[in-house]
Amino acid sequence: MDATTTTKTAASTPLVNALNEDLRREFQAIVRYTQFAGSVQGPHRPQFAELFRREIADEMRHAHFLADKIAALGGEPTTLVPPIDTAHGAREMLEMLVAAEREDIEAYTRRAREAEQAGDVGLRVQLENMVLDETRHLEEFRKILAEWH
Ligand SMILES: [Fe+2]
Ligand SMILES: [Fe+2]
Repeated sequence: MDATTTTKTAASTPLVNALNEDLRREFQAIVRYTQFAGSVQGPHRPQFAELFRREIADEMRHAHFLADKIAALGGEPTTLVPPIDTAHGAREMLEMLVAAEREDIEAYTRRAREAEQAGDVGLRVQLENMVLDETRHLEEFRKILAEWH
């Protein structure tokens, strides 16, 4: 390599760091849904496995968007997946998913405000759409749990 070549270092602004935290949570969601879809048992297994797999497609789109955006801002997209707790039974899975989706909604709501402050309207709009997706996920799980006596 040419000695005069300067190494390009990835930017790590507060917004890039926060988006990388979001990307880690999306990776975590993808692995969690995959693990739950594979291991859920009982008479309603087919519906739960199908429901969890459908969510993976949304979380995957979120992860792709975040990775692209982090790189566009000069950062390096993370490869880290945070640890994931396993659940015992469909009901416990749903309760854990409700908690995780609620966290995502809070994080993206906060992030949308930060994008607005950074003057990136496109990012704000996309993050708000992700709030919409996660809210749909949350409401679906809540409806199932509401009639589970
Ligand atoms: Fe997501
Ligand atoms: Fe979600």
